[in-house]
Amino acid sequence: MQLIREPKDRIIFPLDFPDYNSAKKYVEILKGHIGLFKVGLELFVKEGPEILKLIAGEGKAKIFLDLKFHDIPETVKGAMKSANALGAEFITVHCDEGRGLLETTVKAASGKTKVLAVTVLTSLSRDSLKEMGMREELQDPLKLVLHRARVAKSAGCAGVVCSGLEAQYVKKELGKDFIVVTPGIRPSWSVVKNDDQQRIVTPSDAIRSGSDYIVVGRPLRSAKDPVDAVKRVAEEIEKALN
Ligand code: C5P
Repeated sequence: MQLIREPKDRIIFPLDFPDYNSAKKYVEILKGHIGLFKVGLELFVKEGPEILKLIAGEGKAKIFLDLKFHDIPETVKGAMKSANALGAEFITVHCDEGRGLLETTVKAASGKTKVLAVTVLTSLSRDSLKEMGMREELQDPLKLVLHRARVAKSAGCAGVVCSGLEAQYVKKELGKDFIVVTPGIRPSWSVVKNDDQQRIVTPSDAIRSGSDYIVVGRPLRSAKDPVDAVKRVAEEIEKALN
């Protein structure tokens, strides 16, 4: 199924909210203006599949289930099997447990759900990688992202999550059909207080670099008019594609 028909389909809005009602408000506001709603740990732990039913019931946007699996392969296999029934387009697994976990997740995925591998969180910098004990050559986020993206592709993942600073290199090396999702998006007009993101880019830079989808959270959530803000992002995507 073709997921991307128009620029707005490339926008992923993370439902980073504590409960059903606050998420519902944004599902109603943004549903016709974006491609996918991303449900992460905060909301899924609280509300479970009910929140996915809400998104599916509205019928306008797809589901990105961002649970970032990270455990022994047998446990993640079970989690993936449980997730198959939830109707998500994408589900995420961390790369840092290596090929075995990625292969197990891909093998356990069925139906339309595609597995994306999380390479290096956009909140991490070179200093954080050093502190985590990465060997010197892999303290460079780009090198680590590329290394992990290669493993993810060979393990059968449909794509990766990486920052806009790495997207073009991933696309160039791993091909245009290998999906790239980019968080850490900050339009030039956005104001995000106490921002924890490190490796950030604008929507047009991400799209020009080859990102297929961009995750835009706080810049839309903190905008006075989220619909106007999301339309501006879609326009920026359209210009970048041309
Ligand atoms: O735009 P904003 O910073 O608010 O987006 C935050 C969202 O991006 C969160 O849902 C977070 O889980 C997600 N994210 C991600 N992968 C990263 C970094 C952030 O999916 N590497």
